[in-house]
Amino acid sequence: MRFDQSRFSRLSLPFALLGGGALLLPLSVQADALQQQLNDLQEFQVIAHRGASGHAPEQTMPALELAHEMGVDYLELDIQMTADGELVAFHDESLDRATDGEGELKDVSLEELKALDAGSWFNEAYPEFADDAYAGVEILTLGEVIERFGTDTRYYLETKSPELYPGIEEALVEELEAHGLIEAGAALVQSFSQESLLKVQELNDQVPLVQLVWYHPEDDGDQLVEWTGVTPGPSEISDADFQAIRDYAVGIGTNLTYEETLEVIDASFVEQAQANDLLVHVYTINESDDMQRLLDWGVDGIFTDFPDRLNELVE
Ligand code: G3P
Ligand code: CA
Repeated sequence: MRFDQSRFSRLSLPFALLGGGALLLPLSVQADALQQQLNDLQEFQVIAHRGASGHAPEQTMPALELAHEMGVDYLELDIQMTADGELVAFHDESLDRATDGEGELKDVSLEELKALDAGSWFNEAYPEFADDAYAGVEILTLGEVIERFGTDTRYYLETKSPELYPGIEEALVEELEAHGLIEAGAALVQSFSQESLLKVQELNDQVPLVQLVWYHPEDDGDQLVEWTGVTPGPSEISDADFQAIRDYAVGIGTNLTYEETLEVIDASFVEQAQANDLLVHVYTINESDDMQRLLDWGVDGIFTDFPDRLNELVE
């Protein structure tokens, strides 16, 4: 475990009072809760990717309940916005894979979305994990998730495809503030979009941010590049590149492999990021031997569809 309070000096006092309908806590309580979150991030974090989505339909209540029962540090959710402006937990832009509907989520109202079956696809795709109770489960609003699990649970929330959803950052921060999540130290925001993260920071600079990156071969060649260009490829990355992320984020969330075969980062990448005061969280790791290897590298957290497997290694 590494611990260096100065890594998070950006998040030290004073804290701004939260406005609007926020649950107003005394400043000292907010400071303590946020500092506790930052301290806890120094420990290895088990991040339930879309809930315990290896066992139950991703981002639905059964997957979140299971992850909660297993005991995880964060529930990871992808946040998108319906045509009528409601924030919902759903990964794909299209409804085709993970519901019985079709078309684009952005074109559908919450009422239409709620009528879809977000569970039967899982029973068909993963018969070994199928359960009749999963048939017909609903897509959840972010508000429903927070109301169920409260501020004692922490949420690792991705602004997913934010370019499709003008205003999603404002809606997200408003919802987090309204539920008292930020001052409770219960929210972390992640995105592949640096622009989206900076918007969140401008709206509320007390939310820990994680910059997501995805390394892949450029034009099917050998050279690795980062999808959005937020860093160079892993072999060219410099301290200055990591520091540029450290200016606004507490960590970096990276893939380990491209198409499950090509390994894109190594222990030295992790070491260099951490030497630049960035946490390193790695997605999406489902095999125990990969988990153990990353633990040996000293990563700060792992996103997994199988938190039970990861818990067995870290407990
Ligand atoms: O958010 C970390 C990881 O979930 C990023 O990949 O595609 O599963 O959202 P994705
Ligand atoms: Ca995600």
